[in-house]
Amino acid sequence: MKVFGICASPRISTTNYVIKKALEKLDDDSFETTLFSCAGKNIRPCMHCDYCLENKRCIIEDDMADVYRNLQDADGIILATPVQSGGISSNLSAIMDRTRALEAIDYNLLRGKIGMSIAVGGDRTGGQDFAHLKNITYFMIHGIIPVSGGPFGSNLGASFWSNDTLNDIKKDEYGMESLNRTLVEFEKFLKKYI
Ligand SMILES: Cc1cc2nc3c(=O)[nH]c(=O)nc-3n(C[C@H](O)[C@H](O)[C@H](O)COP(=O)(O)O)c2cc1C
Repeated sequence: MKVFGICASPRISTTNYVIKKALEKLDDDSFETTLFSCAGKNIRPCMHCDYCLENKRCIIEDDMADVYRNLQDADGIILATPVQSGGISSNLSAIMDRTRALEAIDYNLLRGKIGMSIAVGGDRTGGQDFAHLKNITYFMIHGIIPVSGGPFGSNLGASFWSNDTLNDIKKDEYGMESLNRTLVEFEKFLKKYI
């Protein structure tokens, strides 16, 4: 089974560290994983030109091509975002908007896949839950089944406190527990529903 992970930070740092941990665990458990990092990529915002509605593809030619292909191929999707301004990153927001071009092809293209959310905040309570809720809302809109890591600290997904440094996120044991709990459920859902 294929899992596609999006690291929605504009740089290679704390979010990259945790999504790589997640994908390594999935690799060990025999899933086929692909990581797309927004760092250094060109992903322009949706212009609402409606070209996709007529032509069944986005008019913008940039690094979204990789994302479109991998989203369609995947059985499971992980959205990992740094918390920015109390929610998801601008990179992830652009990616979500740009998938309107997939809806234009077929509203059901992503339906039935399994979705998981990871949020990394510089602050302990900096908006991780709002970032998760945005990701879960996106999953719902596309018929993607969202997983919870369970009621003991990972209700909406895996939440991390980075204190803005790579050193400190490595010490966030509670965050790593929330990731492991969410991964257990993600794997169960993939095996049960795909
Ligand atoms: C523009 C911007 C806005 C941010 N807003 C928040 C915020 O609202 N809450 C929070 O906890 N951290 C906030 N941060 C801090 C990042 O979430 C934190 O440093 C995170 O670890 C960055 O992930 P990265 O290392 O993968 O880029 C913000 C950072 C930036 C650059």
